[in-house]
Amino acid sequence: MSRIIGKTLQPGDEIVTTWLDHYANVSSWQALEENGVLVKQARFDPETFKLDLDHLASLLSSKTKLVAVGLASNAIGTINPIAKIAALAHNVGALLYVDAVHYAPHGPIDVQALGCDMLVCSVYKFFGPHVGLLWGKKAVLESLPVYQVSAAPKTVPQKFETGMPNYEGLAGATAAINYLASVGQEFGSRFADELSQYQDRRRHLKQAMHAISLFERNLFTNLMEQLQTIPKITIFGITDPKEFEHRCPTVAFTVNGYTPIEVAKILGEQNIFVWDGNFYAQGVTEQLGLEAAGGLVRAGLAHYNTQEDVNRFITALKAL
Ligand SMILES: Cc1ncc(COP(=O)(O)O)c(C=O)c1O
Repeated sequence: MSRIIGKTLQPGDEIVTTWLDHYANVSSWQALEENGVLVKQARFDPETFKLDLDHLASLLSSKTKLVAVGLASNAIGTINPIAKIAALAHNVGALLYVDAVHYAPHGPIDVQALGCDMLVCSVYKFFGPHVGLLWGKKAVLESLPVYQVSAAPKTVPQKFETGMPNYEGLAGATAAINYLASVGQEFGSRFADELSQYQDRRRHLKQAMHAISLFERNLFTNLMEQLQTIPKITIFGITDPKEFEHRCPTVAFTVNGYTPIEVAKILGEQNIFVWDGNFYAQGVTEQLGLEAAGGLVRAGLAHYNTQEDVNRFITALKAL
């Protein structure tokens, strides 16, 4: 998409992204700098772990053509206030492009409520294959230049296909969506009344994402309570349960006396899978001053995790 959108930009045009983002949503825009486009990054507050909206607003001007921001940080879990950012972007006439890759498996997404112009995601993050997904306002997608094999249709959505569609990937994406809908049917009926405006599979999907969000929130609240009792651990991210609507169940931390990779290896030997480093969100580890020391340890919950998993994780950390 950066190549497509880049075709519409002139030297001197600006794109604003953030230090909180995965660099898939930073480097792809920075690649346009060779055409004279300027890319700016909004800070996050290292005390609250939230995006600094005043700083973001200060970077916007009539030169800003696009604001590219993550729905949730894949490093520290913060969920960004997309509707507010949409208002700021639209106020200067810029489009808002949202990277929903990290957030997607954790809760419902309503693009109308977010007010974004485009939203992208990777299907593998919600248990499907490696397929990219783009939602966009019809008028916006229609206004973008064609980027494809010349003989292919020039209409949305085919105009963005660079070759024969990835049919097996699309079949896998459909299967992942059907799987989530089945989760909604089985575990989400308590949300049926409040979601009665949606029909059929869409309702089941909404039910699933509401049920998953609630389930993960409860499990994560317990995980965070236990994690905070371990003196060696420093958590980087929102820790107040009253603020948990602003974060995903993804926690980043360091352990005193161990490098992040050492922690990941020790846990990995016990079949507990965490990740270490910057997770391609190097703006986060750089702004927190952790990049040189190996970044962070990151653990995340999904809807298949259990209290037993959480307890095993905590016991392993306490044994360090
Ligand atoms: C927030 C976020 N954006 C983008 C990506 C990159 O996705 P892909 O490799 O499918 O482009 C990731 C992957 O972890 C991510 O977490």
